[in-house]
Amino acid sequence: MRVLLLGANGQVGTELRRSLPAVGEVIPATRSGQLPDGTPCEAVDLAALATLPGALGRIRPDVVVNAAAYTAVDRAESEAERAYRINAEAPGLLAGACREEGIALVHYSTDYVFDGRGLRPYREDDRTDPQNVYGASKLAGEQAITASGAEHLILRTAWVYGLHGHNFLRTMLRLGAERDALDVVDDQRGCPTPSWLIADATASLLGADVPANGIVHLVATGETSWHGFAQAIFEDAVATGRLEHAPDLRPVPSSHYPTPVRRPAYSVLDTLRLQGTFGVGLPHWREALARTMGPRGPQRPVRRAGDDSVS
Ligand SMILES: NC(=O)c1ccc[n+]([C@@H]2O[C@H](COP(=O)([O-])OP(=O)(O)OC[C@H]3O[C@@H](n4cnc5c(N)ncnc54)[C@H](OP(=O)(O)O)[C@@H]3O)[C@@H](O)[C@H]2O)c1
Repeated sequence: MRVLLLGANGQVGTELRRSLPAVGEVIPATRSGQLPDGTPCEAVDLAALATLPGALGRIRPDVVVNAAAYTAVDRAESEAERAYRINAEAPGLLAGACREEGIALVHYSTDYVFDGRGLRPYREDDRTDPQNVYGASKLAGEQAITASGAEHLILRTAWVYGLHGHNFLRTMLRLGAERDALDVVDDQRGCPTPSWLIADATASLLGADVPANGIVHLVATGETSWHGFAQAIFEDAVATGRLEHAPDLRPVPSSHYPTPVRRPAYSVLDTLRLQGTFGVGLPHWREALARTMGPRGPQRPVRRAGDDSVS
């Protein structure tokens, strides 16, 4: 199986470069045509819409895994046209080209497609109502892919973190080393999800060759607030020797940090479909964090629910 991996230098893309070779030959692509270590790779710029069908024709993959996206949530409010081009038009065009060539498409979306007023974990078919430009552009991407007729899997994830890239874990570790006290938001709830888990689950799904079409939620189980997540990060940072001591953590409401963008207050996603129908086991977020921070690092397999074998 030839797998074209778009966004190979992002948080999720970096982990997919590790996990996808288990299922086939991986052709990484970045916007610049270089991997972070300088190795040349395919150059695919999602903003250059007219070039996308040609790139597929040239590379001829069996599957496209699209981990590239416009992810600057605050900036999207003032760059809506660019956010829509990369998150909606490009995936729609890619999906159309995939349908023409008989290529399957795996794409990632977000909890931000929901309004955040839910009282129970969001299911795949719950009503969407994005509250900001980023969420709306990602929803438009989902809709364009769904309408394309291509074989596709849209994996909605949330609160992504890891030891690479820009994310909450890395910000906390940096601030924790610099400050004695930190104010952290405690009125937004979600499912912190490590990038390695998303990459391992994606490889499991592709490797299992399940005939797939549609939207599936992919997050670690359980839920917490940013404040709860920060507390756990500092517990593990001290336990693994990354920090000498934890800063004082003060819970604050979101209004403490005014931003140009509305973020959903409740972002918990229901993963019954992934775990039940697709048989992919998911760890609790606390265990996933411990594995990420653990001395042996994050490379652990995803186990299928009810199955002791490693997939
Ligand atoms: N991060 C989260 O908390 C979160 C939450 C929910 C869903 N998601 C979704 O999960 C997926 C992966 O996100 P991530 O956290 O891995 O994001 P990320 O670390 O910001 O990576 C995004 C990747 O997209 C690439 N990219 C941006 N514009 C591009 C363009 N015009 N052409 C080609 N590549 C382009 C970036 O390349 P450059 O380095 O060249 O800019 C980067 O490799 C995305 O679909 C995102 O929407 C993320």
